[in-house]
Amino acid sequence: MASLTVRTPDGKVRTVSLLKRITSLGRGSDNDVPLEDANVPASALHVTFDGTRYEVGSLGATFHVNGKRRDNHALSTGDVVKVGGTELTFSREDAPREPVRREVPEREVPLPSAATASSDSHTAELPGVVGRELVLLKRLTAFSERLFGSYDVDRILESLLDEAIEVTRADKGFLILMESGEPRVKAARNVARENIEDAVEKLSDSIIAKVVKDQKAIIVADALDAPEFKASESVVNLKVHSVMCVPVMHKGDLFGVLYVGNDRLVNRFEPKSLDMLTVFAAQASLLLQNALLVNDLKLDNTELRRKLEDQRYGDIVGACQGMRDVYKRIDKIAPTDISVLITGETGTGKELIAREIHRRSPRTKGPFITVNCGAIPENLLESELFGHAKGAFTGAVATRPGKFQAAIGGTLFLDEIGEMPLQLQVKLLRALQDKVVYKVGENRGEPVDIRVVAATNKILEEEVKRNTFREDLYYRLNVVTVKLPPLRERGEDVIVLGRFFLQKYAREFNSKARGFTPAAAVSMKKYGWPGNIRELENRLKKAVVLADKPLLGADDLDLKPENLEPIMPLLQAKEEFQKRYINEVLARNNGNRTKTAKDLGVDPRTIFRHLEKLEAEKTGGPLPPDDNEELL
Ligand SMILES: Nc1ncnc2c1ncn2[C@@H]1O[C@H](COP(=O)(O)OP(=O)(O)OP(=O)(O)O)[C@@H](O)[C@H]1O
Ligand SMILES: [Mg+2]
Repeated sequence: MASLTVRTPDGKVRTVSLLKRITSLGRGSDNDVPLEDANVPASALHVTFDGTRYEVGSLGATFHVNGKRRDNHALSTGDVVKVGGTELTFSREDAPREPVRREVPEREVPLPSAATASSDSHTAELPGVVGRELVLLKRLTAFSERLFGSYDVDRILESLLDEAIEVTRADKGFLILMESGEPRVKAARNVARENIEDAVEKLSDSIIAKVVKDQKAIIVADALDAPEFKASESVVNLKVHSVMCVPVMHKGDLFGVLYVGNDRLVNRFEPKSLDMLTVFAAQASLLLQNALLVNDLKLDNTELRRKLEDQRYGDIVGACQGMRDVYKRIDKIAPTDISVLITGETGTGKELIAREIHRRSPRTKGPFITVNCGAIPENLLESELFGHAKGAFTGAVATRPGKFQAAIGGTLFLDEIGEMPLQLQVKLLRALQDKVVYKVGENRGEPVDIRVVAATNKILEEEVKRNTFREDLYYRLNVVTVKLPPLRERGEDVIVLGRFFLQKYAREFNSKARGFTPAAAVSMKKYGWPGNIRELENRLKKAVVLADKPLLGADDLDLKPENLEPIMPLLQAKEEFQKRYINEVLARNNGNRTKTAKDLGVDPRTIFRHLEKLEAEKTGGPLPPDDNEELL
């Protein structure tokens, strides 16, 4: 770095560094080097530096170099330039770093001269020290405010670098983040805010390595001359003269490095700049951590949503083995026209399943018509199903089609089929067999192209045995059975369904509720849910509406200890389980006792006895004698 030693006529001597490409000298205070000499014009000389040579030229004054008058002159160490009564001695050596203001005490901020601001060359055009820090602080605040709401990591990285380059007056910079312990360049920019492609391909860089290792900021003022770093890849690749590199820390751990470089020798970094960059890196760390955290959360959320997607089949939520078997069955039967009987306790989703079968069938564009066989008075059911002719009965003022006709081209859903009166069962059977229906009061048959899906929460085999349900109709409807497991047998699905309803109603009612306490989750799994999913949905809806905190407790769901299944003696529990299990296997085998006995590895008589016992319990009749055969 070059300098000029200035001796003014009043005898004062000072040395100033030549830090800019063009340094102006003259009497006026707006010069880079003001000269206290009445014989010097306001604008006198300039010293230019082209990267290799310093040259003095006139800006209006006549001057001499080493006693000879010159218009311009390439300067060498020891040259003495005389202008007016002032002597300027040139040196290529650095000027001693003295606070110039001490020598020129009358000059207060702002400090317009590069030479006088020699301790902070690259920020020379900013106001004086206090003012400069204020400006930086303002920039930092504005920058943070601008980016604080942003979670776009790439945008933050680029803005961060642009700002770091601007604040430190660097020519280029790059930002490195540690990924699995390895440094990776995440952004590389130059002063024109362009990305520098392949700025640093390999990161075996010695400067970065030192910062990563020591976790301390470093400044290399003359990188090309520094023995430790002159072979540094970043210095070579980026062709930089001076470098600042600071660690980006979070909670005491290094997670990245901010690196800026200057390729102008006259504009090298100095310690003050390092302080600035360090403050900057601390702020950057906060912004980045914030964005990275939010991105992680977003990923988590997407993951959760994806999981929920995995845990459902159309509108049907649940992924337990029992429900997966149901979905597999639906996949097979939906494309066909075969009749389906859906069985399951109340609230297990029979109607939902019927709709899903329709939705996945080739009839999906056709109508889905529901008949609730249990809700229509017996005398109206026939006309409801098949329609009636005008005058067929009192009140039949016009001819009306029935649900069968309405379902043409689509699916007819016969809900609560177990409630259908016996006389109508015959007519229904005929309609299903012939695919022809007769309106009440009409002899002309109408062909109907429909698919029938029926549902019941009764055990139809038992109704058949009791002669309340026709066996032939039972076989007609029950070409394929879809048996829905009760909620208490769906394992984790109770929580999955719980979360699903919680989210649904929290959105609908704008509620605070976000999840369950661990105790609530345990209670939900323990409770027997006699009303199944409908009960779960209703309890949750109520809890969500009344919620005044984010986590719903067992109390909020009215799952008090007395609602949980009672603890019973092991023997009794074994019996209960045995009963339930045999019923389940029987149902899976469509009531086939021999097959059930074979599957369970017991004598068929055990199954008969089990059924007799059930019947006796139901009717209050005498229990069959126990022959001490143990199932388990
Ligand atoms: N697996 C499920 N996923 C999401 N919602 C469900 C599920 N199963 C049932 N539901 C909901 O629970 C409620 C009861 O279901 P649905 O009416 O289909 O039961 P059901 O078996 O027909 O009952 P019932 O025998 O009393 O008529 C409905 O609101 C339904 O949307
Ligand atoms: Mg129903």
